[in-house]
Amino acid sequence: MAKRILSGVQPSGKLHLGNYFGAIRQHIALQDEGECFYFIADFHALTTLKDAEEKEIKDAHDSSGKMKPRKASAILRDNVRDVALDYLALGLDPAKAAFFRQSDVPEVTELAWILSTVTGMGLLERAHSFKDKTDRGIAASVGLFTYPVLMAADILIYRSNVVPVGKDQVQHLEMTRDMAGYFNNAFGVEVFPMPAERLDAVPSVLGTDGKKMSKSYGNTIDIFAEGNALKKTVMAIVTDSTPVESPKDATTCNVAALYALFADDAEKAKLASLYANPMEDAEARQGRPFGYGDSKKMLLEKINATFGPFREKRKELAARPDYVEQMLADGAKRARAEARKTMELVRRATGLSG
Ligand code: ADP
Ligand code: TRP
Repeated sequence: MAKRILSGVQPSGKLHLGNYFGAIRQHIALQDEGECFYFIADFHALTTLKDAEEKEIKDAHDSSGKMKPRKASAILRDNVRDVALDYLALGLDPAKAAFFRQSDVPEVTELAWILSTVTGMGLLERAHSFKDKTDRGIAASVGLFTYPVLMAADILIYRSNVVPVGKDQVQHLEMTRDMAGYFNNAFGVEVFPMPAERLDAVPSVLGTDGKKMSKSYGNTIDIFAEGNALKKTVMAIVTDSTPVESPKDATTCNVAALYALFADDAEKAKLASLYANPMEDAEARQGRPFGYGDSKKMLLEKINATFGPFREKRKELAARPDYVEQMLADGAKRARAEARKTMELVRRATGLSG
């Protein structure tokens, strides 16, 4: 039987290069390697939605009236649409992968409840993500605490084999396997196969300030940024204060690290050589030494060449909201049929139905 591949993405704003190289790219590549289910985790997004709303109110206040804060419901709707458009524009093919909204398969909350009854509190108390999020000031709701149970239900309800995720999600996968085991043991039937995580080769994409790229650090380069806004972001990447005529070190430079995401070996070697010998090919720069401004331009060109065609596709899709809606509805139909099959087995195994 074909491998079943599943992943979820939180609709939490504009997707960035970290999301692309860490997650989206492998999701899209895997469409050809198995039966894929990809969903937009809107139930999960509810755990942080009020915080997102409060942040908009604060940002609007700080911008002295230049920004208008959106209501929580508008934030969620916009973010779900943005993620759907981003994935479709980047090559998600709805004919290959079932692509849908998590909440369009409400059976997943039923399974989450059932799993929660065989899961000890201790397991959830050990979750890093709850602690990380509450440390960042996110309100500690019961939903935030039981987030990993819903995530386990997402994975198990499709009896998934492979779950492509970033490193930060590995603990959630371990917990999912624990919950699958608790269920299978409690009811003496092997309803759930053990899912395995799949990590991409790209470790961690660094942001414009050299820390891990993340929305919460405000150091992102958005996949669909373009024109002057994109240029401003790239030109503002933090570099050290090595004088322009002095040799620079590609192995410690943020610009070079980002460039490496797009470049082949020869291109990476060329940049390292220009950094080490700033007068190399100087005639092409009217005799100027090679500086960080030049490598930033090279990075900008790579970003434009890579994502330019996707931007056009995204604009076309954004003009066809009904098509996008229909596609999500079709994906949900396929996913829900599978979820219902699993719930039949679960209900029978537990004695909920005969
Ligand atoms: P953010 O940190 O911006 O909130 P998310 O936590 O929503 O991003 O990440 C969504 C997906 O993208 C996850 O699978 C995560 O592992 C991946 N990802 C996010 N940031 C990076 C990064 N800087 N490098 C590699 N992968 C990342
Ligand atoms: N927790 C994941 C994240 O923050 C999103 C997610 C929800 C997910 N359910 C999932 C990922 C199931 C993989 C499988 O990125």
